[in-house]
Amino acid sequence: MNPFSLEGKTILVTGASSGIGRGIAIACAKMGGTVILNGRNEERLQETLSVLEGKNHQILVGDLSKQEDLQRMADTLPELQGWVNSAGIPKVCPIKHFDRKDVEEIFNVNITSTMLLLSMLVKKKKLKRGASVVLISAVTGAFVGSKGDTSYCATKGAVNGFMKGAALELAPQGIRINSINPGLVPTSILNLANDIAGEEHHTEIMLERYPMKRLGTPEDIGNGAVYLLSDASSWVTGTNLVIDGGYLLN
Ligand SMILES: NC(=O)c1ccc[n+]([C@@H]2O[C@H](COP(=O)([O-])OP(=O)(O)OC[C@H]3O[C@@H](n4cnc5c(N)ncnc54)[C@H](OP(=O)(O)O)[C@@H]3O)[C@@H](O)[C@H]2O)c1
Repeated sequence: MNPFSLEGKTILVTGASSGIGRGIAIACAKMGGTVILNGRNEERLQETLSVLEGKNHQILVGDLSKQEDLQRMADTLPELQGWVNSAGIPKVCPIKHFDRKDVEEIFNVNITSTMLLLSMLVKKKKLKRGASVVLISAVTGAFVGSKGDTSYCATKGAVNGFMKGAALELAPQGIRINSINPGLVPTSILNLANDIAGEEHHTEIMLERYPMKRLGTPEDIGNGAVYLLSDASSWVTGTNLVIDGGYLLN
C-alpha cells in the first residue's frame, strides 16, 4: 500500500474554484481521494470538477464569510477524513488607511471562518480519529513581514497560531492539524493584490529573491497537501510545512 494514497478518504477543499485550492483538489483526486469542492463561484468549481481524475467528487457552494453558509456546510457535509482550507483573500492597505469593515472582512474569510467551521465539524463528529486538517497559510505574516499588506500578514500569523493550539487540543481525539506556508505562487490572488496596489509589486522583483529561480505552482502545494492528508504523515501534527523554493533562506 502506498502510504501517500488517499484512497477511501473524503476530503473537503475550500478555495477549490481557483489557484492553489484547485491544484490541491487535482492532486488529491490523482491520489485516489474523493474531493468535495467549495467556493462561491459555481461555474469555476465546475471547471475544477471537470479536470479531476476519478468519480464521486462533489461541489458544495458556500460563502465562508457567512454564518448561515458555514452552518449549512457543516450540516450537509459527510464524515471527512481530510479538510484543506485554501480559501483566502488579500488586502493591500497602508496602516494609516485601516477601517473596521476592511479589517473584519479579511479576518472573517482568512481565519474566523476556519475557526468556526473546525468547531462545527468537530462538534458534529464529521472529523474523527485519523482525520487530517491542512490550513493554507503563507510565509508572509507567519515568517516574514510585508509592507502594505499587514492585515493579510496578521491573518496568516493567526492561522499559524490557531493551528498550533488546535493541534494540541485535538491530538487526544486523533485529529491532526498542520499548515502549509507557501512562497509566491502566481494565481488570481496576486492579480487582485496588484490591482489594489496599482502596481506590479510582485512577480519580477520577487523572482530574484527565490534561490531556486522559479516561483511556485499549485501542484507544488498540492503535493505537500497530499503528504499531510495521507497516512504517510500520521505522526505529524502542529507543524508548518514551508514550500517556498528556498525563499526564507535569504
Ligand atoms: N498565491 C500565492 O502566492 C500564495 C502564497 C501564500 C499563501 N497563499 C494562500 O493560498 C490560498 C489560496 O490562494 P490562491 O493564490 O489560490 O488565490 P485565488 O486563486 O484567488 O483563490 C482564492 C480562493 O478562495 C476562495 N474564496 C475567497 N473568498 C471566499 C469566501 N468568502 N468563501 C469561500 N471561498 C472563498 C475563492 O473562491 P470563490 O471566488 O469561488 O469564492 C478562490 O477559490 C489563500 O489562503 C492565500 O492566502 C497564496
